[in-house]
Amino acid sequence: MRIIANTGFQDGVGRSTTTAVLAFMLMRHQGLKPLIIDLDSKNSQRMFFQDLKDAQLDYSTEIGNAKLQINRGRIADLATVGYSLTNQPPIVNTKIFKLKRYLKSLNYDIILIDTPSTFDTSCMLGFQLADDLNIVCTSGIEGLDQVENVLDKLNTLVKDSVLSPSFSTITLNGKDVATYKTDFSYKIKKYYRDFTFQTILKRRKPIHDYASKGITERYVNDRKALKDYKELTAEFSKHYKLEHKQGIFKDKTYTEILKGTT
Ligand SMILES: Nc1ncnc2c1ncn2[C@@H]1O[C@H](COP(=O)(O)OP(=O)(O)O)[C@@H](O)[C@H]1O
Ligand SMILES: [Mg+2]
Repeated sequence: MRIIANTGFQDGVGRSTTTAVLAFMLMRHQGLKPLIIDLDSKNSQRMFFQDLKDAQLDYSTEIGNAKLQINRGRIADLATVGYSLTNQPPIVNTKIFKLKRYLKSLNYDIILIDTPSTFDTSCMLGFQLADDLNIVCTSGIEGLDQVENVLDKLNTLVKDSVLSPSFSTITLNGKDVATYKTDFSYKIKKYYRDFTFQTILKRRKPIHDYASKGITERYVNDRKALKDYKELTAEFSKHYKLEHKQGIFKDKTYTEILKGTT
Protein backbone atom coordinates (compact mmCIF):
# COMPACT_ATOMS: atom_id res chain seq x y z
CA MET A 1 0.00 0.00 0.00
CA ARG A 2 1.31 3.32 -1.07
CA ILE A 3 1.48 6.61 0.81
CA ILE A 4 1.39 9.62 -1.49
CA ALA A 5 1.77 13.24 -0.41
CA ASN A 6 0.18 15.98 -2.49
CA THR A 7 2.41 18.98 -2.21
CA GLY A 8 3.20 22.42 -3.62
CA PHE A 9 4.57 25.50 -1.90
CA GLN A 10 2.05 28.09 -2.83
CA ASP A 11 -1.35 28.72 -1.38
CA GLY A 12 -4.26 27.82 -3.59
CA VAL A 13 -2.56 25.52 -6.10
CA GLY A 14 -5.16 22.85 -5.34
CA ARG A 15 -3.46 20.43 -2.97
CA SER A 16 -6.50 19.99 -0.75
CA THR A 17 -9.01 19.76 -3.59
CA THR A 18 -6.87 17.25 -5.46
CA THR A 19 -6.38 15.14 -2.34
CA ALA A 20 -10.08 15.06 -1.47
CA VAL A 21 -11.41 14.54 -4.99
CA LEU A 22 -8.86 11.82 -5.79
CA ALA A 23 -9.89 9.97 -2.62
CA PHE A 24 -13.54 10.36 -3.61
CA MET A 25 -13.00 9.12 -7.16
CA LEU A 26 -10.84 6.18 -6.09
CA MET A 27 -13.53 5.05 -3.71
CA ARG A 28 -16.50 5.69 -5.97
CA HIS A 29 -15.10 4.38 -9.23
CA GLN A 30 -12.53 1.83 -8.18
CA GLY A 31 -13.90 0.66 -4.90
CA LEU A 32 -10.69 1.47 -3.05
CA LYS A 33 -10.54 2.37 0.59
CA PRO A 34 -8.57 5.58 1.10
CA LEU A 35 -7.19 7.22 4.21
CA ILE A 36 -6.52 10.93 4.04
CA ILE A 37 -4.01 12.45 6.42
CA ASP A 38 -4.57 16.17 6.82
CA LEU A 39 -1.36 17.86 7.86
CA ASP A 40 -2.45 21.38 6.99
CA SER A 41 -3.38 23.47 10.00
CA LYS A 42 -6.49 24.72 8.23
CA ASN A 43 -8.18 21.34 8.64
CA SER A 44 -9.77 21.79 5.24
CA GLN A 45 -10.23 18.10 4.42
CA ARG A 46 -13.21 17.80 6.75
CA MET A 47 -15.22 20.21 4.64
CA PHE A 48 -14.98 18.04 1.53
CA PHE A 49 -16.72 15.17 3.31
CA GLN A 50 -19.86 16.36 5.00
CA ASP A 51 -20.24 13.22 7.08
CA LEU A 52 -16.86 13.97 8.62
CA LYS A 53 -17.47 17.65 9.20
CA ASP A 54 -18.81 17.37 12.71
CA ALA A 55 -17.66 13.84 13.37
CA GLN A 56 -16.54 12.89 16.80
CA LEU A 57 -13.21 11.22 17.10
CA ASP A 58 -13.59 7.53 16.33
CA TYR A 59 -10.23 6.24 17.07
CA SER A 60 -7.01 7.48 18.55
CA THR A 61 -3.81 5.65 19.04
CA GLU A 62 -0.31 6.34 20.27
CA ILE A 63 2.63 5.11 18.31
CA GLY A 64 5.87 5.82 20.06
CA ASN A 65 4.30 8.86 21.81
CA ALA A 66 2.88 10.16 18.58
CA LYS A 67 -0.86 10.57 18.59
CA LEU A 68 -2.78 9.56 15.50
CA GLN A 69 -6.48 10.36 15.38
CA ILE A 70 -8.77 8.80 12.83
CA ASN A 71 -12.35 9.62 11.89
CA ARG A 72 -14.17 6.98 9.97
CA GLY A 73 -16.01 8.33 6.94
CA ARG A 74 -18.31 6.89 4.32
CA ILE A 75 -16.02 7.80 1.43
CA ALA A 76 -12.65 8.12 3.09
CA ASP A 77 -11.29 7.97 6.61
CA LEU A 78 -9.59 11.10 7.81
CA ALA A 79 -6.56 11.20 10.07
CA THR A 80 -4.87 14.00 11.89
CA VAL A 81 -1.63 13.77 13.75
CA GLY A 82 -1.19 15.15 17.27
CA TYR A 83 0.91 18.12 18.23
CA SER A 84 3.62 15.92 19.65
CA LEU A 85 4.72 15.12 16.11
CA THR A 86 3.99 18.24 14.14
CA ASN A 87 5.74 20.43 16.72
CA GLN A 88 8.83 18.30 16.89
CA PRO A 89 12.17 19.40 15.59
CA PRO A 90 11.98 18.54 11.92
CA ILE A 91 13.99 15.36 11.90
CA VAL A 92 12.77 12.77 14.36
CA ASN A 93 13.30 9.66 12.37
CA THR A 94 12.56 7.00 14.96
CA LYS A 95 9.11 8.30 15.83
CA ILE A 96 8.22 8.94 12.24
CA PHE A 97 9.57 5.58 11.21
CA LYS A 98 7.30 3.88 13.77
CA LEU A 99 4.31 5.89 12.62
CA LYS A 100 4.99 5.07 8.99
CA ARG A 101 5.28 1.39 9.78
CA TYR A 102 2.00 1.56 11.67
CA LEU A 103 0.24 3.34 8.80
CA LYS A 104 1.47 0.68 6.42
CA SER A 105 -0.05 -2.00 8.62
CA LEU A 106 -3.54 -0.47 8.41
CA ASN A 107 -6.17 -1.85 6.13
CA TYR A 108 -6.28 0.87 3.46
CA ASP A 109 -5.70 0.62 -0.27
CA ILE A 110 -4.04 4.00 -0.42
CA ILE A 111 -3.06 6.83 1.91
CA LEU A 112 -3.15 10.40 0.58
CA ILE A 113 -1.50 13.17 2.56
CA ASP A 114 -2.54 16.81 2.28
CA THR A 115 0.45 19.00 3.12
CA PRO A 116 0.78 22.70 4.05
CA SER A 117 1.95 25.38 1.64
CA THR A 118 5.25 25.93 3.42
CA PHE A 119 8.08 23.56 4.21
CA ASP A 120 7.38 23.58 7.93
CA THR A 121 7.61 20.72 10.43
CA SER A 122 4.17 19.37 9.45
CA CYS A 123 5.18 19.33 5.83
CA MET A 124 8.43 17.56 6.62
CA LEU A 125 6.48 14.99 8.56
CA GLY A 126 4.27 14.45 5.51
CA PHE A 127 7.27 14.08 3.24
CA GLN A 128 8.91 11.56 5.56
CA LEU A 129 5.74 9.51 5.88
CA ALA A 130 5.20 9.42 2.13
CA ASP A 131 6.60 6.97 -0.41
CA ASP A 132 5.88 9.34 -3.27
CA LEU A 133 5.35 13.04 -3.90
CA ASN A 134 2.69 14.26 -6.26
CA ILE A 135 3.43 17.92 -6.92
CA VAL A 136 0.31 19.95 -7.60
CA CYS A 137 1.11 23.06 -9.58
CA THR A 138 -0.68 25.62 -11.67
CA SER A 139 -0.38 25.62 -15.43
CA GLY A 140 0.71 29.27 -15.68
CA ILE A 141 4.25 30.57 -16.02
CA GLU A 142 4.76 30.17 -12.25
CA GLY A 143 4.21 26.40 -12.48
CA LEU A 144 7.84 25.58 -13.24
CA ASP A 145 9.02 27.57 -10.22
CA GLN A 146 6.50 25.76 -8.07
CA VAL A 147 7.89 22.40 -9.15
CA GLU A 148 11.51 23.46 -8.66
CA ASN A 149 10.73 24.88 -5.27
CA VAL A 150 9.43 21.53 -4.08
CA LEU A 151 12.40 19.69 -5.57
CA ASP A 152 14.81 22.04 -3.74
CA LYS A 153 13.15 21.32 -0.43
CA LEU A 154 13.04 17.62 -1.16
CA ASN A 155 16.81 17.71 -1.75
CA THR A 156 17.44 19.28 1.64
CA LEU A 157 15.33 16.58 3.27
CA VAL A 158 17.14 13.80 1.44
CA LYS A 159 20.42 15.08 2.95
CA ASP A 160 19.03 15.24 6.49
CA SER A 161 16.74 12.28 6.83
CA VAL A 162 16.83 8.60 6.05
CA LEU A 163 13.13 8.84 5.35
CA SER A 164 12.31 10.69 2.20
CA PRO A 165 9.84 10.17 -0.61
CA SER A 166 10.48 9.89 -4.33
CA PHE A 167 9.44 12.70 -6.59
CA SER A 168 6.97 10.75 -8.68
CA THR A 169 4.29 12.79 -10.40
CA ILE A 170 3.06 16.28 -11.27
CA THR A 171 -0.60 17.26 -11.41
CA LEU A 172 -1.42 20.37 -13.40
CA ASN A 173 -4.21 22.58 -12.16
CA GLY A 174 -5.44 25.32 -14.48
CA LYS A 175 -5.08 28.53 -12.52
CA ASP A 176 -8.05 30.51 -13.68
CA VAL A 177 -9.76 31.28 -16.96
CA ALA A 178 -7.46 34.22 -17.72
CA THR A 179 -4.30 32.16 -17.47
CA TYR A 180 -5.48 29.58 -19.99
CA LYS A 181 -4.15 32.14 -22.46
CA THR A 182 -0.72 31.90 -20.91
CA ASP A 183 -0.72 28.16 -20.53
CA PHE A 184 2.78 26.94 -19.76
CA SER A 185 1.75 23.39 -19.06
CA TYR A 186 3.48 22.27 -22.26
CA LYS A 187 6.80 23.44 -20.76
CA ILE A 188 6.24 21.49 -17.60
CA LYS A 189 5.26 18.47 -19.66
CA LYS A 190 8.42 18.91 -21.71
CA TYR A 191 10.84 19.35 -18.80
CA TYR A 192 9.23 16.73 -16.62
CA ARG A 193 7.92 14.47 -19.32
CA ASP A 194 7.91 11.21 -17.43
CA PHE A 195 6.40 12.75 -14.36
CA THR A 196 3.55 14.93 -15.55
CA PHE A 197 0.00 13.68 -15.88
CA GLN A 198 -1.53 14.60 -19.23
CA THR A 199 -4.80 15.78 -17.71
CA ILE A 200 -4.99 19.48 -16.89
CA LEU A 201 -7.63 20.17 -14.28
CA LYS A 202 -9.87 23.06 -15.21
CA ARG A 203 -11.40 25.50 -12.79
CA ARG A 204 -15.07 24.70 -12.39
CA LYS A 205 -17.64 26.16 -10.08
CA PRO A 206 -18.96 22.84 -8.70
CA ILE A 207 -15.39 21.82 -7.80
CA HIS A 208 -14.86 25.11 -6.03
CA ASP A 209 -18.03 24.52 -4.02
CA TYR A 210 -16.84 21.11 -2.80
CA ALA A 211 -14.43 22.86 -0.45
CA SER A 212 -17.39 24.11 1.57
CA LYS A 213 -20.34 21.90 0.67
CA GLY A 214 -18.75 18.51 0.29
CA ILE A 215 -18.09 16.39 -2.79
CA THR A 216 -21.01 14.94 -4.69
CA GLU A 217 -21.62 13.61 -8.17
CA ARG A 218 -25.37 13.62 -7.82
CA TYR A 219 -26.07 16.37 -10.34
CA VAL A 220 -25.24 16.60 -14.03
CA ASN A 221 -23.08 19.68 -13.44
CA ASP A 222 -21.04 17.84 -10.85
CA ARG A 223 -20.47 14.89 -13.14
CA LYS A 224 -19.42 17.24 -15.93
CA ALA A 225 -17.07 19.12 -13.64
CA LEU A 226 -15.57 15.88 -12.38
CA LYS A 227 -14.67 14.70 -15.86
CA ASP A 228 -11.10 15.99 -15.61
CA TYR A 229 -10.71 14.36 -12.23
CA LYS A 230 -11.99 11.10 -13.62
CA GLU A 231 -9.25 11.22 -16.25
CA LEU A 232 -6.68 12.23 -13.69
CA THR A 233 -7.76 9.37 -11.41
CA ALA A 234 -7.31 6.91 -14.28
CA GLU A 235 -3.79 8.22 -14.93
CA PHE A 236 -3.01 8.30 -11.24
CA SER A 237 -4.18 4.72 -10.78
CA LYS A 238 -2.19 3.52 -13.71
CA HIS A 239 0.97 5.25 -12.57
CA TYR A 240 0.71 4.06 -8.98
CA LYS A 241 -0.54 0.63 -10.03
CA LEU A 242 -3.68 0.84 -7.93
CA GLU A 243 -6.15 -1.99 -8.10
CA HIS A 244 -9.65 -1.80 -9.48
CA LYS A 245 -12.04 -3.33 -7.01
CA GLN A 246 -15.08 -1.78 -8.54
CA GLY A 247 -16.80 -5.14 -8.86
CA ILE A 248 -17.70 -4.81 -5.22
CA PHE A 249 -19.67 -1.68 -5.95
CA LYS A 250 -21.02 -2.60 -9.34
CA ASP A 251 -24.53 -3.44 -8.27
CA LYS A 252 -24.83 -0.87 -5.54
CA THR A 253 -26.29 2.58 -5.87
CA TYR A 254 -24.51 5.61 -4.52
CA THR A 255 -27.14 5.92 -1.77
CA GLU A 256 -26.44 2.39 -0.62
CA ILE A 257 -22.74 3.12 -0.50
CA LEU A 258 -23.42 6.25 1.51
CA LYS A 259 -25.52 4.27 3.94
CA GLY A 260 -22.45 2.19 4.54
CA THR A 261 -23.98 -1.03 3.30
CA THR A 262 -20.83 -2.04 1.45
N1 LIG B 1 -10.41 22.54 -10.29
C1 LIG B 1 -10.89 23.54 -9.53
N2 LIG B 1 -11.99 24.22 -9.92
C2 LIG B 1 -12.48 25.25 -9.18
N3 LIG B 1 -11.94 25.68 -8.03
C3 LIG B 1 -10.83 25.04 -7.60
C4 LIG B 1 -10.25 23.94 -8.30
N4 LIG B 1 -9.15 23.52 -7.62
C5 LIG B 1 -9.09 24.32 -6.52
N5 LIG B 1 -10.09 25.23 -6.51
C6 LIG B 1 -10.34 26.29 -5.53
O1 LIG B 1 -9.15 27.04 -5.35
C7 LIG B 1 -8.94 27.34 -3.98
C8 LIG B 1 -7.64 26.71 -3.53
O2 LIG B 1 -7.73 25.30 -3.66
P1 LIG B 1 -7.17 24.34 -2.54
O3 LIG B 1 -7.39 22.96 -2.99
O4 LIG B 1 -7.70 24.72 -1.20
O5 LIG B 1 -5.64 24.71 -2.64
P2 LIG B 1 -4.45 24.48 -1.59
O6 LIG B 1 -4.84 23.36 -0.71
O7 LIG B 1 -3.28 24.18 -2.47
O8 LIG B 1 -4.29 25.78 -0.87
C9 LIG B 1 -10.16 26.81 -3.24
O9 LIG B 1 -11.08 27.85 -3.11
C10 LIG B 1 -10.69 25.72 -4.16
O10 LIG B 1 -12.09 25.57 -4.03
MG1 LIG C 1 -5.01 23.26 1.38
